[in-house]
Amino acid sequence: MTNQLLLRPMTLDDIDVVAELDGRAFGESSWSRRYFAGELTESPISIFYVLTNQQQILGYFGAWHVVDQLHLCTFAVDPERQGQGLGALLLNCVLRLAQRLECTVIQLEVRESNQTARTLYRSRGFIEEAVRRNLYSQPKEDGILMGLPTPERLDQSNWERAGQRWQDGLVLCWDDRGGTLDEQWTV
Ligand SMILES: CC(C)(COP(=O)(O)OP(=O)(O)OC[C@H]1O[C@@H](n2cnc3c(N)ncnc32)[C@H](O)[C@@H]1OP(=O)(O)O)[C@@H](O)C(=O)NCCC(=O)NCCS
Repeated sequence: MTNQLLLRPMTLDDIDVVAELDGRAFGESSWSRRYFAGELTESPISIFYVLTNQQQILGYFGAWHVVDQLHLCTFAVDPERQGQGLGALLLNCVLRLAQRLECTVIQLEVRESNQTARTLYRSRGFIEEAVRRNLYSQPKEDGILMGLPTPERLDQSNWERAGQRWQDGLVLCWDDRGGTLDEQWTV
């Protein structure tokens, strides 16, 4: 895999690819193209990013920013690229975004049966705070509400831990919502 990755805002041009990826990642509970479009065009609190290798979308996340809270509302890695460290990398980006927005807490919900995601969140410090009965449909299932106080800084060890998967090193660029290259991390 290339060691040059770019995190950039999701646009309407991405929706076909993102919705297709979402369908493979979430199955019958995936979001429609229309739902993604609504998030991008009608929701002032929504912030959606895609992670790319400049050619393909490898994963994405969406979050709702409300006052001092960032709520991670969707998050997926292309199933063909799961297990390669991209999920951990994207989650680091979510934490970094929360810092940049000066949020005090990050929250999310996860299906009770989704052990992979729960393990990832727990391993990065999220606490399981509550069970939300029957939160999900298709199939019907409880949701686990998880939360993490936004760290004051994202420790370099988080990036190093994520970067260990790339033996030749990894450069992750962040293209900010204004469209300019704002930050570049070498992990
Ligand atoms: C959850 C998801 C984003 C993880 O992405 P990923 O790229 O596979 O994850 P990574 O390779 O970066 O692994 C990150 C952590 O996930 C956990 N993990 C990964 N694969 C796992 C597995 N098969 N079983 C248990 N835990 C696993 C581990 O804690 C791992 O950390 P470690 O490598 O430090 O041990 C991905 O599985 C996905 O897109 N799933 C479908 C959509 C989804 O469930 N989204 C979350 C909704 S709340």
